[in-house]
Amino acid sequence: MISIPVEYVEYLYILSVACFALSLKWMSEVRTSRFGNLAAVVGMLVAVGATLAAYQIQRIDLVALGVLVGAVIGTPIGLKVPMTAVPQRTAMSHAFGSLAVALVGVAEYYNHVPSIDIFTMAVLGGEMVLGFLTFTGSCIAFSKLQGLIPGKPYIYRGRNLVSIAILGSAIALAVYLAIDPSQQMALLVMIPLALLFGFNLIMGIGGADMPTAIAILNSFAGMSAAALGFILNNQVLIVAGALDGSSGFILAVIMSQAMNRSFTNILFGSVGKAVEGQQSAQAGRVIQQYTVEDVATVLDGARFVIIVPGYGMGVAQAQFVVKELADLLQTAGADVKFAIHPVAGRMPGHMNVLLAEANVPYDQLWEMEKINPLFPQADVAIVVGANDVTNPAARNRTSSPLYGMPILDVDKAKTIVFIKRSTRPGFAGVDNDLFYLPNTMMVFGDAKQVLTDLVAQVKKHIG
Ligand code: TAP
Repeated sequence: MISIPVEYVEYLYILSVACFALSLKWMSEVRTSRFGNLAAVVGMLVAVGATLAAYQIQRIDLVALGVLVGAVIGTPIGLKVPMTAVPQRTAMSHAFGSLAVALVGVAEYYNHVPSIDIFTMAVLGGEMVLGFLTFTGSCIAFSKLQGLIPGKPYIYRGRNLVSIAILGSAIALAVYLAIDPSQQMALLVMIPLALLFGFNLIMGIGGADMPTAIAILNSFAGMSAAALGFILNNQVLIVAGALDGSSGFILAVIMSQAMNRSFTNILFGSVGKAVEGQQSAQAGRVIQQYTVEDVATVLDGARFVIIVPGYGMGVAQAQFVVKELADLLQTAGADVKFAIHPVAGRMPGHMNVLLAEANVPYDQLWEMEKINPLFPQADVAIVVGANDVTNPAARNRTSSPLYGMPILDVDKAKTIVFIKRSTRPGFAGVDNDLFYLPNTMMVFGDAKQVLTDLVAQVKKHIG
């Protein structure tokens, strides 16, 4: 195995940190995101390679076994997991990452106890609390998103008090350990308390708030890794953890702003309480079902069309046929724009990624704030497998779990075409008033199939 002097490893770490910083910068733009991904991979390879080459490893066979097990499990997951399941996959990586960090922390404790100074023990305590709570929190997030347990928030009287008491006790034990690291019993109580806090925290989150919660868990995992970097005196871990922690935090802030929620509302609110009340809204209301022929007729005279993609477009893999329809309408002289809601789909940037895959030009993608004033001028808004992000209840129904979340103003378009398989609600479990508007044309079916038929009809109309 190649071996390099330990003093040179710092230079390689600087290179790796530069790659991570560039990766974050490049990933913030669709155009450069592929380079961003590549830079992150290179940065990680340099960091791992430099560490292995510079430090003496006693059991290289165990490292090789770990790499093998990780590759055997990780490669098929990376290749096979569909885009729609990326949030739960992300939750699972946070769970394993934070568990690894927390367990290394425990190993460090037992390696050095009782001769651990107060600063190191304080950082170690914080690192273990964050690592273990992120582990259970992420496991619950995974189970909810994967549908293994109900996605609804589990709220009970006094939940916030219980949460604060559990976290407070775990922190108190960490402080006690910092003062007297030899109290091993305190560690054995602190760990289950941290695990319990993560469980309680994420059980109380549901509906549309889960993506923000995952970003918060991302942030916790990063902070925990940065703390471990201090313990191990490993600069690359400190910087990578800090980048991960801060970017996760910034993402959580952006997402909660996009959904008009505060952190305290997400972590200590009771989102989802009103869901049951919403279901009854459907009773007695009339839905107007149309065929693709009807829609083709309406599109025939349309000058301005806005396409609103959502989660269902991803499930149906309809992005390619959506692009075909957009091209056809443009050829027929219509102006076509895509309306992108920040939390449409199941991960940040989900719609951008899908539409980029289908080669939809970037300048056709319009963000929510920019496209919303244009809806009243749109002849037709075509909603493809979106639901929550168009629901006017977010604007006018205070009892709705979506209330306060900014939405795409689809209801202001002259005609709305809604393509989905049924009247079932979306992620937040809320009925959508748009289905019942007199100017809404519901077309039921798989988005890809409906759009393929629609393209055929539009071609006939264009001649
Ligand atoms: P949703 O509100 O979840 O609605 C998606 C709709 O797609 C469903 O109502 C479903 O109706 C339809 N659908 C599913 N498969 C389909 C198919 N094959 N063909 C046609 N339609 C299909 O999606 P949205 O409007 O994109 O909103 C996203 C929601 O997910 C928000 O509540 C958001 O907070 C949440 N969320 C977002 C993220 C991020 S970061 N983007 C992460 C996790 C959760 P049918 O079953 O009737 O077909």
